[in-house]
Amino acid sequence: MNNYEKDIEVLFSEKEIQDAINRLGGEITGFYKDKNPLVLGVLKGSFMFVADLIRVLNFELEMEFIGLSSYGECTESSGEVTITVKSPDVLEGIPVYQNRHVLVVEDIVDSGNTISFLKEKIMEHSPASVKVCTLTSKPARREVDIPIDYLGFKVPNKFIVGYGMDYNGKYRNLHYIGYLKNPPSP
Ligand code: PRP
Repeated sequence: MNNYEKDIEVLFSEKEIQDAINRLGGEITGFYKDKNPLVLGVLKGSFMFVADLIRVLNFELEMEFIGLSSYGECTESSGEVTITVKSPDVLEGIPVYQNRHVLVVEDIVDSGNTISFLKEKIMEHSPASVKVCTLTSKPARREVDIPIDYLGFKVPNKFIVGYGMDYNGKYRNLHYIGYLKNPPSP
């Protein structure tokens, strides 16, 4: 028992996460293996997932990152998306996305505002295609109807942490995905 386990109910173990990544790798390979896609990791939450995901993609690809944030110091998404790490290609018109197949990789889709914002930005740069891969999705909280092309797990309407996901900056280093047993009030 580590210090975290009293705070967190485990939803998906390290093994279950790796099994999901292997399955997603197969699905993603089917579409992208000859397309040299640009894989776009959304920081911070996706850093661990995208690192493990690209290791099961055994074909040519390139990586980019952008930092987006939709949460303040509270447990609910604010709906307003802030760019925290700039991708020059998104913001300054460098044509990295032009005619490229872009695979956006997220840790969680909650309201859908972040993915919706990012897809719109990328679409301004004439990509060949844009698809979304997310490790987790919380359908109960969706505000924007955004298609998810590759999904790891549906999660309940709880505050999800671990494997890259945080509460107030904590718990990103957990090997598993869980939820806070006693979340603070929003
Ligand atoms: C999380 C997550 C997604 C977004 C999803 O990021 O990584 O980017 O929220 O929420 P939404 O569907 O309601 O927009 P967060 O704002 O917590 O930033 P972080 O990744 O840096 O932790």
